[in-house]
Amino acid sequence: MAKIGKKEAAERIGFLRKELERHNYNYYVLNAPVISDFEFDLLMQELQALEKRWPEFASADSPTMHVGSDLEGNDSDEVRKPGVDGASGAKGDSDAPVAKFAQVAHRYPMLSLGNTYSLEELREFDARIAKDITSPYTFSCELKFDGTAICLTYRNGRLLRALTRGDGTKGDDVTRNVVNIPAIPQVLRVADAGTPAAPGTTPIPEEFEIRGEIYMPFEAFKRLNREREEIGEAPFANPRNAASGSLKLQNPEEMRTRGLDCVLYHMLGENLPFKTHIEAIEAAASWGLPVSEYSRKAGSIDEVIAYVQEWDTRRKSLPFATDGIVIKVNELDLQRQLGFTAKSPRWATAYKFKPESVLTPLLSVDYQVGRTGAVTPVANLEPVPLSGTIVKRASLHNKDQMDLLDIHIGDWVYVEKGGEIIPKITAVELSKRPADAQRPHFPERCPDCGTPLVRDEDQARHYCPNSDSCPEQIKGRFIHFISRKAMDILAGDATIAQLYDAGLIRELPDLYSLTAEQLLKLEGWQQKSADNFLASLENSKRVPFPRVLNALGIRHIGETTARMLATHFGSLDAMAAASREDLLQIDEIGGIMADAILDWFAAPRHREMIEKLRAIGLQFEMSAEETRRLSDTLAGATVVVSGNFTVSREEMKALIAAHGGKNTGSVSGSTTYLLAGEKAGPEKLRKAEKLGVKVISEEEFYQLINHTNTTTPQNTLF
Ligand code: IVH
Repeated sequence: MAKIGKKEAAERIGFLRKELERHNYNYYVLNAPVISDFEFDLLMQELQALEKRWPEFASADSPTMHVGSDLEGNDSDEVRKPGVDGASGAKGDSDAPVAKFAQVAHRYPMLSLGNTYSLEELREFDARIAKDITSPYTFSCELKFDGTAICLTYRNGRLLRALTRGDGTKGDDVTRNVVNIPAIPQVLRVADAGTPAAPGTTPIPEEFEIRGEIYMPFEAFKRLNREREEIGEAPFANPRNAASGSLKLQNPEEMRTRGLDCVLYHMLGENLPFKTHIEAIEAAASWGLPVSEYSRKAGSIDEVIAYVQEWDTRRKSLPFATDGIVIKVNELDLQRQLGFTAKSPRWATAYKFKPESVLTPLLSVDYQVGRTGAVTPVANLEPVPLSGTIVKRASLHNKDQMDLLDIHIGDWVYVEKGGEIIPKITAVELSKRPADAQRPHFPERCPDCGTPLVRDEDQARHYCPNSDSCPEQIKGRFIHFISRKAMDILAGDATIAQLYDAGLIRELPDLYSLTAEQLLKLEGWQQKSADNFLASLENSKRVPFPRVLNALGIRHIGETTARMLATHFGSLDAMAAASREDLLQIDEIGGIMADAILDWFAAPRHREMIEKLRAIGLQFEMSAEETRRLSDTLAGATVVVSGNFTVSREEMKALIAAHGGKNTGSVSGSTTYLLAGEKAGPEKLRKAEKLGVKVISEEEFYQLINHTNTTTPQNTLF
């Protein structure tokens, strides 16, 4: 550190604290970090060094004294709608709908780990332990899973609660989401239920906590990002952000489709019957809890270092992201003896892998136009090997990111591939900047159709507003329309481009007037391929309404939301007639989505297109099979749903509709029932009491509609 005076130190400390808090917020709350972990750790180290050198500036609320927080600074337990009240202040790659969850105090603080990037410091960690402890000790070496921390409580063998780290002292209660992660058992496995545990197995304590990481394997991450790009949402930067964004999803149903996994690595509780950490984790595994298969006991720091070196290479072939190795003293009595600092245990540390990074020249920047008109800058690089692949292109995300990096064409840029699949440019090597290097010029006009671009402040993205006739957007809409989860028409991007270039398709209904004769005139078409294509178009007329709604490509409305809206409204006409208030009554719909729906239906060309597609025979209503009206028991009744149930809220709402009832979002004088599950919103309960609205439980609701949820197949209604 350069020598600086007291005044500069005070200024620098103030600056670093602010910066670190900002990055903590970007990382934990928005799930959209703008610097790498490595850069963050460098800032933190600098602050630590300054605070050590100038103790008079020490402060209990310095970021060096507490862990980052994923809480959003509101302690109401009402679930907040996305986008209507600032809850979705997240930019960039976070999920727009950020939910509110009840905040619950941690029984034991949830701390972070000290970390190092050098083997030398690992030896120092060992030397500190050896100084404090006289008896022999061993280590548990484990992979550092790059996900989001979770704390599970089991009572009497059942999952009681799942909390995020939060600010370390209290976390968000995400139980309703966590129950949708298949790896996490809701009921533990006993050797032989009801009898004393079999010999050699440890009985399950009455109550214990087990902490670990929820993470998204690379495969699931790639799939999710593909889907997000398809619906015009910004992709997640890396699997960690995707995992923590998913954990805060408002719609627990959607969790199931995200392919999250979990690994548990730290057990806590009163009077647990274990002498070592490894014993505790082995017992957890025997109860059916997911633990890492890659951990290893080490008898010395040399064995620890051998493990670190082995996994520095081996981790690259793992199907999930790791960002280091965690080393823990194995003996629990010695852990207690070593204790904690304000932020982390003295008995454990993390060795972090430096993200692999290469330096390569930036050749040019392309600007790609997506189906929703979003313009994404993409860097073309001098091809360079990185982590086993040749990197030629890297995303620059948006104009803000380009300005932040201050990149110039011809610059040598650092390219990194940490947990990310898409490589990213992290910095510029200024010492190598050519004298004549020029800043790339972010276009003012659409590179495809020349229309002046507009900036969407919310997403920090530029858009081409010419959705009517911008060729890239039109082709993008067709590509989305024909995709498997939409109309499932046998064609690919190249076919769409060919049909577009031949002037045969401009609007979605044009697809249905194509003839074999027209196709056979085009290059590469034969009778058989034309027949198959036309047959798949014909079949698409039977595609059910929820998928047709997805195919229309309304901004922010993806597969899951389309299915939910289709179930809620029953038909496109009912949806088109909905007011903003009607839309906002739906739990999962916030201001951004409601406006996107209203804007879409307000456009005359969309109305015309719907009529043409209707005449062609596409499904614009839920079929009888899909709606399955079960009874009229709730005809005329208005039901508000709040809290958690044994089934998802969507299923509850579908049941209300299936029995003739109407679901609304808020309690008013015209509400017939407030259907209150576990942790129902206190505001709603108070209002119901005040207005004399009958509050019914899940059980009472089933009695009312004469329904047994256990005998109803899960997917009858969907
Ligand atoms: S032990 C008292 N073990 O890394 C600390 N943490 O940077 C107990 N992590 O907060 C944590 N893999 O979220 C532990 N095998 C592992 C881990 C692990 C990932 C995360 C965890 C922790 C963070 C620290």
